[in-house]
Amino acid sequence: MIKKYVFGNPFETEAVVEKIKTERGLPEYGDISAEKGFSLSYIMEETDIIYGLGEANRGINKRGYRYISNCTDDPNHTEDKSSLYGAHNFIVVSGEKPFGLFFDYPSKMTFDIGYTKSEVLAVSCGSADLYLYVIEGKNAYDIVKQFRKIIGKSYIPPKFAFGFGQSRWGYKTKEDFWNVLKGHRENHIPLDMIYMDIDYMQNYKDFTVNEENFPDFAETVREFKEEGVRLIPIIDAGVKMEEGYSVYEEGVEKGYFCKRGDGSDFAAAVWPGYTHFPDVLNREAREWFGSHYKFLIDQGIEGFWNDMNEPAIFYSPEGIKELKSYMREFIRAEKDTSLWELGDKVQGLANSADDYKRFYHCIDGKMVRHDKVHNLYGYNMTRAAGEAFKKIAPDKEFLLFSRSSYIGMHRYGGIWTGDNKSWWSHLLLNIKMMPSLNMCGFLYSGADLGGFGADATRDLVLRWLAFGVFTPLMRNHAAVGTRKQEAYQFENRDDFRGIIETRYRLIPYLYDTYMKAAEENDMYFKPLAFEYPEDSFAAGVEDQLMIGQEIMTAPVYTQNAKGRYVYLPEEMMLVKFTKDNCYTTEILEKGHHYVEVALYEVPVFIRKGKRIPVVRAAQCVEMIDMQTVEYIGY
Ligand code: GLC
Repeated sequence: MIKKYVFGNPFETEAVVEKIKTERGLPEYGDISAEKGFSLSYIMEETDIIYGLGEANRGINKRGYRYISNCTDDPNHTEDKSSLYGAHNFIVVSGEKPFGLFFDYPSKMTFDIGYTKSEVLAVSCGSADLYLYVIEGKNAYDIVKQFRKIIGKSYIPPKFAFGFGQSRWGYKTKEDFWNVLKGHRENHIPLDMIYMDIDYMQNYKDFTVNEENFPDFAETVREFKEEGVRLIPIIDAGVKMEEGYSVYEEGVEKGYFCKRGDGSDFAAAVWPGYTHFPDVLNREAREWFGSHYKFLIDQGIEGFWNDMNEPAIFYSPEGIKELKSYMREFIRAEKDTSLWELGDKVQGLANSADDYKRFYHCIDGKMVRHDKVHNLYGYNMTRAAGEAFKKIAPDKEFLLFSRSSYIGMHRYGGIWTGDNKSWWSHLLLNIKMMPSLNMCGFLYSGADLGGFGADATRDLVLRWLAFGVFTPLMRNHAAVGTRKQEAYQFENRDDFRGIIETRYRLIPYLYDTYMKAAEENDMYFKPLAFEYPEDSFAAGVEDQLMIGQEIMTAPVYTQNAKGRYVYLPEEMMLVKFTKDNCYTTEILEKGHHYVEVALYEVPVFIRKGKRIPVVRAAQCVEMIDMQTVEYIGY
């Protein structure tokens, strides 16, 4: 049962697509105050588990920390961080009488979940203008499914998107991309996509291709496709300010960029230098921005990743001006004791809250200051693309995912979880985040496997890929300047081949599971507690996940480990996928086990009474031969 409450004058985010009548009065859960801003506080039972928040830091159970929905470009996802790239305001209080809450509010919102006071759940935001949905159900899983129904069906990618993708910031020329293809094909490591980071463009200008490096881009796209590989370019939010660049000139002329208070176009520096942000919250501007994807689609491109769409700002002219005046004062006063403060000022230039108050969106004829709707930018940039695809090629499915997001965007594309690091702790964070993302509708998702920043080690890449076998988006991506981490860069490449091949052996099963989850508003990844609600031990397991109705995964995420402890809530068949299309099986009884897992193995636990289809590996999704299917399980 779902009840909808309205406070003040909410902004229509279009996160919820089902029509629900609004209730009078206040919900029966928690104390609500709408006097100074909005706040809801609820006393939790000691045993209540709090699920949700999608792309957020820390565990599956969100208790014990404070999270802030405020889409942020921050590449240091350390434990102390409260905000990441997405804003997903849905939580479930799972206890005696479970209920879910969705706060449809597009600006900054704080979820203090037993952080200030251990038994108090306190949700607050600056203005009391929002919709609050309260969902009652049998249990957390049931509540999630009800929520998923009202926000509409999740995005479905094309089948090739279930293959393996290789990416690295720094591939520039056709030759660079060709070498990646060769590195995989020559070593018989399957590959379906190579991602094109910002260097494919002409001076980082959206919807351009560097002509020197790609004299005939359409031909290049075709050549790769003949080898079974799609090129997937990045699109950034900021449009470079440059005379003669048609996207910029058109946007200025039509008034489609975000404006300052005085009506001039707001400028912010990102990779291309100064840019303007397309006003994707304005319907016409959104259509206009989306229409430009056609330039690449016409050259054979079938997928995109949308980036820097929090939107990320390195600095603004206003910010620089303020910094300079601070520096002049700093030098004049000879204040060498406040060097730290100076450092903070310089650091504070990027993604500053002040800048987000300096520009406006034009929505239905009204100017809306950006900070009031900040969390909707990435959502609407991706919506621009998704809506445009329907017009450009109505019968085609495109691969599309975004860095920043809000609930509602899950209908248009997936997400990747941004700039993680090559740290074991981030492999664990990846595992824990996946079911929470699913609760909020984001099914096609994954992290940068192997880690984006910092130098990766061989064993980390292998273990991370072994988890990536199960994430719908399986992509190895790394930052420029870090150690090369493509599968063929390391010794004993057959270990990497074995793991990536396992993905392909499981694609019929994983694709089917994904489709069922998308069609039935269900989850692909689930916490154990959702399948075994009566099992009190399962409720606390956060490093094992259920996938579909059939299997459980328990990835190894520590260095030098020979394996790991695994909890089985029921008897299961342990299948270890090894190299050369081989596997071993063993029945394990309910309870605790130490399971040895070699670096080249992928363990899968099949539930009692279930079986899964497995095929022989192929070099790309299109080459999977369904004639080779066999069933493993009970
Ligand atoms: C951002 C993206 C990252 C990309 C880089 C360069 O940091 O998150 O994935 O490689 O920009 O485009």
